[in-house]
Amino acid sequence: MKAKQPLRQRIVIAFVLMTLLISAGFSIGIVQIVYLVEEHLVTEEMHSRLQAAMDALGTGRAPALDSDQQLFTDSTPQLLPPLEFARVGKGFSEVVSGEQAFYAYKINRDGFAYILVEDQQEFEAREQLLFDGVLIGFVASLLIAWILGELVAKRVMQPVVSLADEVRTGSTAGGKERLAKDYADDEVGRLAAAFDDTLEQLGRSLEREKLFIGDVSHELRTPLMVIGTSCELLAGSHGLDAKQRAQLERIRRASEDMLELVKTLLLLARERSDNDGGHSLVSLAAAVGEQNAIWSAQFTARGIDYRCVVESPDPGQYQSTFLRTVISNLLRNALHYTDQGGVRLVLYRGGFRVEDTGPGIAPEQYAHVFRPFQRGSHARGEGLGLGLSLVKRICEHQGWGIRVLPGEPRGCVFQVDFSAK
Ligand SMILES: Nc1ncnc2c1ncn2[C@@H]1O[C@H](COP(=O)(O)OP(=O)(O)OP(=O)(O)O)[C@@H](O)[C@H]1O
Ligand SMILES: [Mg+2]
Repeated sequence: MKAKQPLRQRIVIAFVLMTLLISAGFSIGIVQIVYLVEEHLVTEEMHSRLQAAMDALGTGRAPALDSDQQLFTDSTPQLLPPLEFARVGKGFSEVVSGEQAFYAYKINRDGFAYILVEDQQEFEAREQLLFDGVLIGFVASLLIAWILGELVAKRVMQPVVSLADEVRTGSTAGGKERLAKDYADDEVGRLAAAFDDTLEQLGRSLEREKLFIGDVSHELRTPLMVIGTSCELLAGSHGLDAKQRAQLERIRRASEDMLELVKTLLLLARERSDNDGGHSLVSLAAAVGEQNAIWSAQFTARGIDYRCVVESPDPGQYQSTFLRTVISNLLRNALHYTDQGGVRLVLYRGGFRVEDTGPGIAPEQYAHVFRPFQRGSHARGEGLGLGLSLVKRICEHQGWGIRVLPGEPRGCVFQVDFSAK
């Protein structure tokens, strides 16, 4: 899954970014307009002030000026302009003299220049006040956008969050009620309806699969038991030679194995809670004893040295069908894939391992061999590649750990730990 910010955070970011762009645009616009309007107003005001002052000078009156304004003209020796103002052009201009800035307005009349000069300080103070206001407005709008974004995101995401919760708890608890009824007919409502349909389909196919396994397992049990008892009856009758008895014994053992397998499949198809009581438990030593009786002869028949070693006794009791299936599958593989050398079944407190001297398994295939219908490069005979996948599923079901390790000096080791999880 891609690492991304949560949806809620992205909504807030979008809100803040949008407000940032809009209020930055507005702020820049306000500043530009203020500059334009100010220049226009100052020009107008200074023009009329200068006209009035010139008129006053013409009639010999003292011109009426503000304290931050000064009048210069070369028509009167007392009012001669200093050098920095004497050079200004006609109309409005700005003059910087030392640390101070001035507005200047110049009119030529009757061959004389009249210049009105005004200190900019007051305007600048007002301007600064306005810019401070714009800045505060800008920051405040971002803050409000962030708070609003949080509120809106919470509200928008609330149905999605509660739908996710319901899907999680509803699906694990096998909830039967429809989710869509709690939501408006909008995008989230449609999503809930889609979940309803998918969960319904999933539930139906799970139910079908369970029923199928249950039916198959149940229906197979009776004919298998018939085969088993018929074998026993036949074995009791006279007139069978040693070879025929051996064949009969093989049929009986195979039907017993099948019966075990059917039980295992039936148990695996059920939920864990169904499985906690009512099934026989067995110790590791007892289960291994049974399996030794089945497999030793087959190892000997193939000239493989088979040994069962108890490093330390295990006190636990385990679900007998599962434990037998795991041990027999691992021993069957060891028998199947080892041509010479030995196989050891080592028991210790908390688990056991099957070591062989066969061709071994390449480390990159370790995960692969536990998948269903996957056979490794050393596959032999007519297997389906299901043995280890069944073993793995049983171990997961029972909370046991299973892993494969390289053998010493060759072969491989399958190790089962009862308390791995
Ligand atoms: N002891 C072993 N030594 C070497 N390779 C093994 C051993 N056990 C399993 N494998 C490899 O792992 C693959 C998967 O084993 P698994 O028992 O699942 O299937 P299978 O033995 O091929 O068929 P099935 O068990 O269904 O009859 C095998 O095909 C084989 O290549
Ligand atoms: Mg196998």
